[in-house]
Amino acid sequence: MSKKVTQAKRLKVALVVGARPQFVKASMLIRALEKYQNIKTILIHTGQHYDRDMSQIFFEELKIAPARYNLGIGSAAHGMQTGRMLIGIEKALVKERPQVVVVFGDTNSTLAAALAAAKVKYGNKGPKGDFFLYPFIAHVEAGVRSYRRHMPEEVNRTLTDRICDIHFCPSASAVKNLRKEGISEGLYNVGDIMYDSLIYFRKNIEGRQRLLRRWKLIPQRYYLATVHRENNTDIVQNLKKIIDILEGLDLPVLFPAHPRTRKAIQKLSVKFSNIRLVSPLPYFDMLAVEKNAKLIITDSGGVQKEAFYLGIPCIVLREESEWRELLSTGCNVLSGLSKKRVLKTVARFAKVRPKIKCRSIYGNGRANIKMAAIIRRLK
Ligand code: UD1
Repeated sequence: MSKKVTQAKRLKVALVVGARPQFVKASMLIRALEKYQNIKTILIHTGQHYDRDMSQIFFEELKIAPARYNLGIGSAAHGMQTGRMLIGIEKALVKERPQVVVVFGDTNSTLAAALAAAKVKYGNKGPKGDFFLYPFIAHVEAGVRSYRRHMPEEVNRTLTDRICDIHFCPSASAVKNLRKEGISEGLYNVGDIMYDSLIYFRKNIEGRQRLLRRWKLIPQRYYLATVHRENNTDIVQNLKKIIDILEGLDLPVLFPAHPRTRKAIQKLSVKFSNIRLVSPLPYFDMLAVEKNAKLIITDSGGVQKEAFYLGIPCIVLREESEWRELLSTGCNVLSGLSKKRVLKTVARFAKVRPKIKCRSIYGNGRANIKMAAIIRRLK
């Protein structure tokens, strides 16, 4: 590594978050980092997600201390949102001078943080004169690819990987993807930190199926749906296709809706008979409704993996997945927005529940411990 880190007694690690799943990932990594007395963590929240049920509730449930910085950026067009984050994160880094900056996943907050960290430098004075110090940048979930250039997430993750020093990959295929792109240094296959989290909080979801009564649902007698990709919410004909698919299923569909999805549905003024549209759920409740569903239908990356970890069959409303390994496990199937393909897969899963293979493709639930140990050794 060519970067210089101060030889200070304490290693200051800044973790930048902004969107729902990043709160979960950061909480797991903070937990592992704080086992080391010489590591100090500071949390920077861009404010990309700001509704109580998209942000604060995660801090409360996961017992994350309030972020040192909440930049309050909120929603805006991609460029404006990312630009405002860049300005705010840079200011926080200049003030705090962390030696390591950790970014998570593939959101606009991820790219803004990686870019701010790649450009920042801290002035220093030494016996031989002035010099600059640069922070290490670590990317959690590095190397994941959908190869769909027009997905904002693909742009964010690809560019982030180009400018970070440490690539914490969730799988062997993510390492391979990076090597193909000419990235050969700082690669670590640590596993998926969301798997760590699921294992860590497993007990918190037990008994939670009681909450299904709220919507008059019975375990194993409902489907769970989540949809929030802008391609599926902001293109009206795609959203209509999804609603038609879910309305036509043989069991009720619990649909915790992201605010942008709810807004897009409201514009259509449709009345549902099969779909139970509800607010976004806190993390433990979400895991509980996943675990008790007969089947999950989603366009989310994170939910695809959780379905697999929980052993629930999953239909992915997309033509590709950045979590490709899941497709060969027998648990996850791509359907695009084809009603025919969804119905066929639902019928197939109703007859034969998939036997889930290769449980360890995303590590052994200790990704956070491995990452913390690597960060601690940075010099
Ligand atoms: C973002 C990430 C996506 C990730 C997801 C996790 C990008 C480009 N996308 O998508 O990769 O999977 O987070 O959940 O960064 N909104 C609210 N309240 C909120 C947050 C958002 O009403 O608290 C609405 C706004 O209308 C906003 C829209 O949702 O314009 C989209 O939010 P945004 O943060 O841009 O993207 P997500 O869809 O949440």
